[in-house]
Amino acid sequence: MDVIRVRGNRKLQGTVKISGAKNAALPIFAATLLTDEPCVLENIPDLSDARFMADILRHMGASVESPEPGTWRIEAKNLHTRAPYELVRKMRASVCLLGPLVARLKRAEVSLPGGCVFGPRPIDLHLKGLARLGCDISMEAGYVHIDAKNAKGAHVFLGGRHGSTVLGTANLLMAATLTPGTTHIESAACEPEVTDLAEMLVKMGAHISGIGSPSLHIEGVDKLYGCHHRIIADRIEAGTYLIAGAITGGDVTVNDIEIRHLGALIDKLEEMGLCITTPTPRSIRITPDGPLKAIDLTTLPHPGFPTDLQAQMCALLSLVPGLSIITERIYPSRFMHVPELQRMGANIAIEGPSAIITGQKRLSGAPVMASDLRASVALILAGLAAEGDTWVQRIYHLDRGYEKLDQKFAALGADIARLPASAMPVEGEEPEGPLEATPRNLPAIDHNLATVASNN
Ligand code: EPU
Repeated sequence: MDVIRVRGNRKLQGTVKISGAKNAALPIFAATLLTDEPCVLENIPDLSDARFMADILRHMGASVESPEPGTWRIEAKNLHTRAPYELVRKMRASVCLLGPLVARLKRAEVSLPGGCVFGPRPIDLHLKGLARLGCDISMEAGYVHIDAKNAKGAHVFLGGRHGSTVLGTANLLMAATLTPGTTHIESAACEPEVTDLAEMLVKMGAHISGIGSPSLHIEGVDKLYGCHHRIIADRIEAGTYLIAGAITGGDVTVNDIEIRHLGALIDKLEEMGLCITTPTPRSIRITPDGPLKAIDLTTLPHPGFPTDLQAQMCALLSLVPGLSIITERIYPSRFMHVPELQRMGANIAIEGPSAIITGQKRLSGAPVMASDLRASVALILAGLAAEGDTWVQRIYHLDRGYEKLDQKFAALGADIARLPASAMPVEGEEPEGPLEATPRNLPAIDHNLATVASNN
């Protein structure tokens, strides 16, 4: 298995093109099952999660091909009702097969996805919504069985104790498109990925109003049709590269994005003292603008600060003088990156759902273990700013959600390499190659001294 080696202390500089959004692509793949006509999806990122979703659709009976990179053509003339455990356990997002199966076949047997490393991740709200539509739901041997032959439009409140549910909203939205009558989803998730799905469903012939708001109205139709759809840019990938610019005191521009999807992050980066500009209507540039300040932030449903950028901010704030507090309101125990950041010298204490971060002058590179997608990328970011080499293991997590991560960072000037695990130095042995001229021996960046002079 490969590892990623990052040699820190380099300011990133340049422009990075952002890929299509993983979290938009996955439910949109599932939505293609709502019709027996072909759907063509564009701007699909080349990620293991996207390829895996394509495999699931094949398993469900669809014909799935990728005529060129980034484009997928899916035609689901025939469909099975059962999504087995072996598939669903590998990718939690496969739970969003429920909506299309209920809508089109009026029957579904989908394995329960189980928990994940950052918490229990229940699907009670998905099921509550489907039950409100009149679906008959039962559990058996780890599977949820749904009979939707009597389903009809209804009023559904989807709020839970952590806000709404993104994939739950996607499921209910998809189910309601082909369910007779009017469905009103209140407290629907407003994440841009849900909006993207709703816009694709409208292209397929669905009658939906209130798109982008927490109040969605769906008039059920008899049939949906094939369509072409281009997936939105990945706001979390974009945010990650902006934070990489910030943590290295560099000058980074992210391109091909929707600026309005990143409002909460921009606000927090500006509050920290970073300079954010928008060179074009579809790009954001980050540059240093004097000393950085500690901040408090709380993750919330969109348009609040996204949980999927929390770990990256944790890495950044570890190097900002003063006391910062991050409170995680979506997944209160999503802090697996913290022990690994501590191994690199970060001073972070976890108190309930909050991380209390005392900014350090420097981090030092270390061998670290990735535990999930965003935790892994936080370790890469920390490694970019640390002294010495950081070796990130279990990088298959990164391959799930960051297209060409090492190439994109290298193009920004990072010293990053994907290597076989055998390249990792064994403790007590000298690392290979000369030590004296490598960037890891340069002094740590002092963000207090960073100025706009580093813009060029
Ligand atoms: N929740 C419930 N009951 C439910 C559903 C959710 O209590 O039936 C709770 C969850 O436990 C959590 C909160 O509600 O506390 C929000 O969960 P949500 O259902 O919105 O999450 P999701 O739809 O399963 C998607 C993304 C996640 C992202 C969350 C929150 C995809 C494939 N996944 O998950 O992305 O963190 O929304 O924005 O879209 C990632 O990309 O790294 C990732 C984990």
